[in-house]
Amino acid sequence: MKNNFTDFSGRHYFVTGASSGIGKETAQLLASFGAKVTLTGRNEEKLQKVKENLRGKNHAYYVKDLSEPADDIPQWLKSITKEEGGFDGLVHCAGFNRIRTLVSVKQNSLEEMMQVHFYSASMLVKAFSSSSNNTGNNNSIVLAGSAAALMGSKGQTAYASAKGALISASRVWAMELAPKKIRVNVASFGFIETEMIDDFKNTYPEETVKAIEKRHPLGFGNVHDAANVIVFLLSEASSFVTGQNIVADGGLTINDL
Ligand SMILES: NC(=O)c1ccc[n+]([C@@H]2O[C@H](COP(=O)([O-])OP(=O)(O)OC[C@H]3O[C@@H](n4cnc5c(N)ncnc54)[C@H](OP(=O)(O)O)[C@@H]3O)[C@@H](O)[C@H]2O)c1
Repeated sequence: MKNNFTDFSGRHYFVTGASSGIGKETAQLLASFGAKVTLTGRNEEKLQKVKENLRGKNHAYYVKDLSEPADDIPQWLKSITKEEGGFDGLVHCAGFNRIRTLVSVKQNSLEEMMQVHFYSASMLVKAFSSSSNNTGNNNSIVLAGSAAALMGSKGQTAYASAKGALISASRVWAMELAPKKIRVNVASFGFIETEMIDDFKNTYPEETVKAIEKRHPLGFGNVHDAANVIVFLLSEASSFVTGQNIVADGGLTINDL
């Protein structure tokens, strides 16, 4: 049998965090392979620009702040499906990082992190799994995780926990959704050069940034490195992969130094 793993024509993907960084690059890669992409983020101007620059027609965007309570997400996705058609896959890239050591951790900062990364993901996965919102054909969900969930990096209580919750829940979701032939995986990244890392570089001294880069045997990654992994997990090339945490971190978590 001949497979063309980069042919996504006739397929439709929902991407959160699509206005920037890894989500934006994933949308661009999917569109370049012939898919229709429905984008979401908070910044309408950026979403409009991303949409305009995507290859092909019929792409769409919807503005939403995922830091708000997530209970309305199933209704929201249903209304989008009505306009745009059912989805072959879901990519949850919306996220942010805020470094806070334990002494300055507060319940509301933990909740905000869980809200955007985990509660939203839970409601999006729930909504996607409804047969009225998916196509029932090689459906795949990819959640952006982080190497931070696998390490003990200082100041990452909220972020590491939220990403850890995603990894744990994705296994449950993979089991519950396997009968529907929906695969669920996490792609956990090391440092990828995006606006998130620009913020980090603007906050910390150059030596700190250099030391962290040195801990990545392959150096920092770029958005293409990350999007390639996500698109692989959406494609038929990964048709037997579910419930996994695929780590793409340039060797960060195997570095024994
Ligand atoms: N870059 C890295 O080194 C790295 C490493 C490991 C994991 N990750 C994960 O990869 C994902 C993408 O990160 P990135 O580096 O591409 O970051 P980025 O360039 O800063 O993009 C973040 C995206 O998330 C959206 N977003 C943030 N808060 C949101 C909210 N409350 N509601 C809706 N959308 C929101 C942003 O939308 P607006 O700008 O429109 O608000 C933007 O599109 C995140 O989950 C991040 O944790 C990144």
